[in-house]
Amino acid sequence: MRVRKFFAAGCLLFLCAVVCACGDERADRLERVQVGVACYNQSDTFLSGLLTSFRDQINGLGNDSLEITVTVRDAAGSQKTQNDQVRELIDAGCNVLCVNLVDRADPSEIIDLARDNDVPIIFFNREPVAEDLMQWDRLYYVGADAEQSGIMQGELATDAILENSRIDRNKDGKIQYVVLEGEAGHQDAIIRTENAVDTLRSNGIELEKLSYQIANWNRAQAQNRMEQLIGQYHSRIELVLANNDDMALGAIDAYKKLNYTESALPVFFGIDGTDVGLEAIVDSTLAGTVYNDKEGQAEAMAKLSVAVVTGEGMDAVKFEKDRCIYLPYAKVTAENAGEFIRKGQQAAS
Ligand code: BGC
Ligand code: CA
Repeated sequence: MRVRKFFAAGCLLFLCAVVCACGDERADRLERVQVGVACYNQSDTFLSGLLTSFRDQINGLGNDSLEITVTVRDAAGSQKTQNDQVRELIDAGCNVLCVNLVDRADPSEIIDLARDNDVPIIFFNREPVAEDLMQWDRLYYVGADAEQSGIMQGELATDAILENSRIDRNKDGKIQYVVLEGEAGHQDAIIRTENAVDTLRSNGIELEKLSYQIANWNRAQAQNRMEQLIGQYHSRIELVLANNDDMALGAIDAYKKLNYTESALPVFFGIDGTDVGLEAIVDSTLAGTVYNDKEGQAEAMAKLSVAVVTGEGMDAVKFEKDRCIYLPYAKVTAENAGEFIRKGQQAAS
């Protein structure tokens, strides 16, 4: 009898030990990725889509042994606010940061904070200059190549002009154009404009520049600038090149507001392929756009966030210039817009 009791007690002890050991092991294996995201301005159409995709993709990487939390802060256009937010995110225990700088030329305070606390940073969409990225070896960048988007926009406009002689409405053999530019100093503003215009020229299109206006990526500002330009040039404008879809749509809003008939409208080109941009391509108000692959960028940011914290998967990441990941752009017209609308829907489901 005694022997049996001893045996039973022994088994119980053994079981407890096994259960406890398993518990310990689980606790050991449970890794936490706490991502702090700092965004320059969440009212930006492209960025709000990118962030939605980022949340979906990174949450999809979590499992029993990997707990993922995401905290997003909006700097509403102030670098000082963003510096404070980054400090708070680090204090709250974030072990990786995704930073969309307000002023891409002014990341030093954020880099110092991160380095002092050994928290790696993945910059995205607003690219720090190369020297700043070299300030510490745990700094990365995810984005896209501005030059490529400008070239593609120029090619789309070239094709449209060559296919449709009515775009040269005054038949002077030249295309009178205006440009709506993003924020001064943003890597995607001047580079997109220069490459779009150079591509049109090198494809033999004769151009006459009427005006350049900065509208800071913003639809309402673009509408305002365009109303002024229409007041100045009336129906002389034949082509509008906008550095993003929101500004192209703002330009279209201006013509609608002033009740311009379709035959007096210029052709409009954007960049991004936002949901609203793609809709405008489908209903032919926007002639073309260049897809800024937010799903691809979000996926790269999500995987890299996990890899820099856990150390796993780092070998599989393909960097350019040591620390950067650039996702390719793609041309969008009415013919293939459906594919990109589906891509967005699949990513959301
Ligand atoms: C996008 C713009 C966006 C800007 C914000 C650009 O890459 O094309 O739509 O407003 O980034 O930084
Ligand atoms: Ca003309």
